[in-house]
Amino acid sequence: MFHPALFKGMTVVVTGAGRGIGLEVARQFLDCGARVLVHAGRSIGELPDFLESAATEGRAHVVTADFLAPDGVESLAEVVRSRFESVDILINNAGTMVGRFPAAELTDEQYQTVVQLNQTAVVEMTRAMLPLLRKGTHPAIVNTVSISAVTGGSAGSSIYSATKAFVATYSKALARELAPEGIRVNCVSPGTITTDFHQRYSSPEKLEATRKTIPLGRLGTAEDCAPAYLFLASHVLSGYITGQVLEVNGGQLIA
Ligand SMILES: NC(=O)c1ccc[n+]([C@@H]2O[C@H](COP(=O)([O-])OP(=O)(O)OC[C@H]3O[C@@H](n4cnc5c(N)ncnc54)[C@H](OP(=O)(O)O)[C@@H]3O)[C@@H](O)[C@H]2O)c1
Repeated sequence: MFHPALFKGMTVVVTGAGRGIGLEVARQFLDCGARVLVHAGRSIGELPDFLESAATEGRAHVVTADFLAPDGVESLAEVVRSRFESVDILINNAGTMVGRFPAAELTDEQYQTVVQLNQTAVVEMTRAMLPLLRKGTHPAIVNTVSISAVTGGSAGSSIYSATKAFVATYSKALARELAPEGIRVNCVSPGTITTDFHQRYSSPEKLEATRKTIPLGRLGTAEDCAPAYLFLASHVLSGYITGQVLEVNGGQLIA
């Protein structure tokens, strides 16, 4: 656990934070004193107690936006502008595999959906937030990529894996471009993490086979991933780190 005042007074935007990794990242930023705009995804279900309390106290703002809808990202950006005069930390985390699509059967619509959600939305959100980040204190962007950006992923995930590789490379280029302004850009690359994600796209047998390949002997959790985001977001902890991808995978990929 980081110091409870590590992000005191700072403004944080986390996309895809209604569940899974993003929700835990939002929780840990709130625990460290930040004011957090929580993009819950496409709809708000029942809020966990910590988020309900933080929202009541005005420290969390929970909003929805469908990144596949026309102007979906812009609608979220508009809410951020209406709530925050500046943004210190942007976490681009929303995304999913959408489905497993064999290369020969992939439709144009499936292709565009995967690319829009995992790739284009990151570019759009980053562009929309840059004016607010430029007004922030020690601003930082942390993007969620994936182990599959390096390995290529498993069957049917080629486009998803390629979008994550795009985001990793985009982040490196952006890190160099924005460094003169003091804005750092890094990525967290989760391995196989037990969120709703794999419940949808991987069978228990596939997950067990994967587990056996992981040197630390278990699948990861959202709690395993979140500290990497806070570390890369903190000027105090990682102020000299930019353009990097931090792999969080129990040793599943050691290169
Ligand atoms: N779990 C893993 O093993 C793993 C591994 C590598 C990378 N990742 C990446 O980690 C990130 C978080 O994944 P997770 O495991 O926490 O998955 P998750 O539990 O499925 O959460 C995904 C988040 O993205 C949001 N999202 C999905 N479609 C959206 C849309 N059309 N518009 C706006 N938001 C949308 C979801 O909102 P809804 O509730 O509306 O769907 C949800 O908040 C993703 O970028 C994923 O690709 C995960």
